[in-house]
Amino acid sequence: MSQQITIGLIGFGTVGSGVARTLLEKGRLLEQRVGARLVLKRVCDRDFRRSRGVRLPPGLATTSVAAVLDDPEIQIVVELIGGVEPARSLILQALRKGKHVVTANKALLARHGRELFAAAAKHDVDLYFEASVGGGIPIIKALREGLIANELDAILGIVNGTSNYILTRMRDKGLSFHEALHEARRHGYAERNPTLDVEGHDAAHKLAILTLLGFGVHVEQSQIHIEGISKVSQADIQYADELGYCIKPLAIVKQADHELEVRVHPTLLEKSHLLANVNGVYNGIYVHGDLVGASLFYGRGAGQNPTASAVVSDIAELARNIISGIGPRLRLDRPHSPRVARLRRMGDIETRYYMRFLVKDRPGVLARIAGILGRHHISIASVHQKERKAARAVPVVMMTHEAKESNVREALAQIDRLGMVRRPTVAIRTEAPRVR
Ligand code: NDP
Ligand code: HSE
Repeated sequence: MSQQITIGLIGFGTVGSGVARTLLEKGRLLEQRVGARLVLKRVCDRDFRRSRGVRLPPGLATTSVAAVLDDPEIQIVVELIGGVEPARSLILQALRKGKHVVTANKALLARHGRELFAAAAKHDVDLYFEASVGGGIPIIKALREGLIANELDAILGIVNGTSNYILTRMRDKGLSFHEALHEARRHGYAERNPTLDVEGHDAAHKLAILTLLGFGVHVEQSQIHIEGISKVSQADIQYADELGYCIKPLAIVKQADHELEVRVHPTLLEKSHLLANVNGVYNGIYVHGDLVGASLFYGRGAGQNPTASAVVSDIAELARNIISGIGPRLRLDRPHSPRVARLRRMGDIETRYYMRFLVKDRPGVLARIAGILGRHHISIASVHQKERKAARAVPVVMMTHEAKESNVREALAQIDRLGMVRRPTVAIRTEAPRVR
């Protein structure tokens, strides 16, 4: 008879109920694959009245967190309540009691990862977090194991399923931003506070985790440039499409000249880009390493079952470690970052830009705009002016060559002060195809 590993789950919501169902319904299969019985002993939530579509065996449900944390038989605690507190405190308590912890809580790891990984190291246990980035995609395991011999120079990720879903539905079905967000919430993709999704913070949390694993650097949220998708308009989606681009919510970390760029923003990608066809709730994470070259990881980035798949993979790995007598395996309290000296200032990054001006349709307008761009060393790659319809203003769309961010900001501030410019100019950064 195989050894038994005992698990306590805290948080019986979208993901927690998926994890409970998987452990209960796939017990036999998991036992065969892992070599141990994964026994769910306790499931804690504030309230069990709401149906989750999972029938828990008698005696599992509890509203007491202590019933999980104080149970000496429980070896692995799974935190799936989300948010910072009380999640942080209860994870720290579990680690102090010598329990391994599995979490999907990227918000918590991004803000308190250093403290939590140090606590895990101090108490000789592991803190696993596969579900925190990319939903069902095993990207964490790929970075910490499969790509371990590589020095990375870039990770570009569509890592917020909700934002990608919204932009895809706006483009393909002409839905409004709010209609698409409503759908994403109904599917269980969005965070409890969906501002985290649409304003880029969830992606920035994930980017901090990817940066730690890929580059050995703990970045604070305040060091990441963050722009969400809430201001992306139907007009820009359509113009981008006509020009051969799509707009994707990208999280970017790049290393060059001992500097690291970390940023999250809507980005124009050529339709031939590897990430351009990552649509709907799907996530795609492009990783470039010195040995492996370009790799692309693709899958469902949110939702009950994909996320449960990732959480259970952590439980299975911990179970294997326990039965093999292997001690803690992750040492993220003291990451190693030999190639990064500093973070690059946002003003110093260089990319190509999409710009949309709304201007009065009269002679000399383009020349004025081009003059200001030229004086700021911004070279225009193409110009597209739309036919004037009813309104007195016309949209002018430009693509630039590579330009420095600080120059672009200064130029646009000057242009937007011109009387002939009717609305603040829209500028969206682009990413070049990166298959090398
Ligand atoms: P839900 O809100 O659906 O579930 C959280 C559950 O925990 C709710 O039932 C909630 O109860 C309960 N809960 C909250 N606080 C406590 C507490 N103090 N004690 C006991 N129970 C508590 O969230 P999700 O399942 O969607 O997300 C869980 C975690 O997984 C989050 O960190 C999220 O970021 C992450 N994640 C989610 C994904 C998704 O697709 N949904 C994908 C990847 C990661 P109540 O409703 O009464 O507050
Ligand atoms: N709200 C997140 C998303 C869940 O939409 O990607 C997965 O982390």
